Amino acid sequence: WYVLISFTKSNIMKKVLLLTDKPFAQVAIDGIQKVVTDAGYELKLCEKYGTDMDRVKRVAADVDALIIRSDKVTPEIMDAAPNLKIIVRAGAGYDNVDLDAATQRGICVMNTPGQNSNAVAELGFGMMVMAVRNMYNGTSGFELKGKKLGIHAYGNVGRNVARIAKGFGMEIYAFDAYCPKEAIEADGVIPVDSAEALYETCNVVSIHIPATPGTRMSINYNLLNRMPKNGLIVNTARKEVINEIELVKVMEDRPDLKYVTDIMPDDHAELVEKFTGRYFTTPKKMGAQTAEANINAGIAAANQIVGFFKDGCEKFRVNK
Ligand code: 3PG
Repeated sequence: WYVLISFTKSNIMKKVLLLTDKPFAQVAIDGIQKVVTDAGYELKLCEKYGTDMDRVKRVAADVDALIIRSDKVTPEIMDAAPNLKIIVRAGAGYDNVDLDAATQRGICVMNTPGQNSNAVAELGFGMMVMAVRNMYNGTSGFELKGKKLGIHAYGNVGRNVARIAKGFGMEIYAFDAYCPKEAIEADGVIPVDSAEALYETCNVVSIHIPATPGTRMSINYNLLNRMPKNGLIVNTARKEVINEIELVKVMEDRPDLKYVTDIMPDDHAELVEKFTGRYFTTPKKMGAQTAEANINAGIAAANQIVGFFKDGCEKFRVNK
């Protein structure tokens, strides 16, 4: 009986670890706690762990589920958590999870698409306005109204960018190799056939492609140099999608171009030194850092974990 009771207890009392180096807003943590507790599970919390991977491995040792943000989940962490059955990336991009390693270990990986995309899109516009107003240095800048905006990848963030851009009175173009043209047109956005055409056409390009082996460093000199005079590149996606060496080269050759990003480039110091007034980065990726986005993505992640354990629901699974 003892064995049966402890087996049943361990089976019911799942442990969910909220592993977020960049913490969620408290209101989101409270919401996650409620979903997890209502399901009869226990919530553990590990925030701001920095480079202390031993701490992460220790706290993950007895957990069945992980909720993460941009936190890297390596094979070592998976091995340190032998009960782990599901990882939910509370957000869109899951390039921080070793999917093959998860699949090999029978771990389901999910994301929560769309839950934080308005927050990212709004930040993109904040940086856009700042850049066309010369980083708020008091000199005369440009307006966004009437300018051509290129949306590079028309997913959840791209759609929100389009919605906001309409309010600014921009002419909106999009390139997405996977999204049907009709779907883009249905939003009043002009689809173009290639990334080249997008960069050639648009005064401002907002980048929303995910970091995959196929997109890494794909935004290069050739593409950026096609932009019209005074072109502005806004990156709220991933630093990996830009070829940073070629970005520096094109900004040297084209003193009219500006680059604003929510993901600090590896060569940040060089960009600061060379391109004063033409380059800006947030100190820490903060596109999804709003209470609303934290609540939406965090609670969706918690619900997906409960659905997975209670009903076997694998909607939003990203590793097959
Ligand atoms: C995402 O992929 O969802 C965004 O880049 C936000 O990432 P974050 O949760 O690390 O802020």
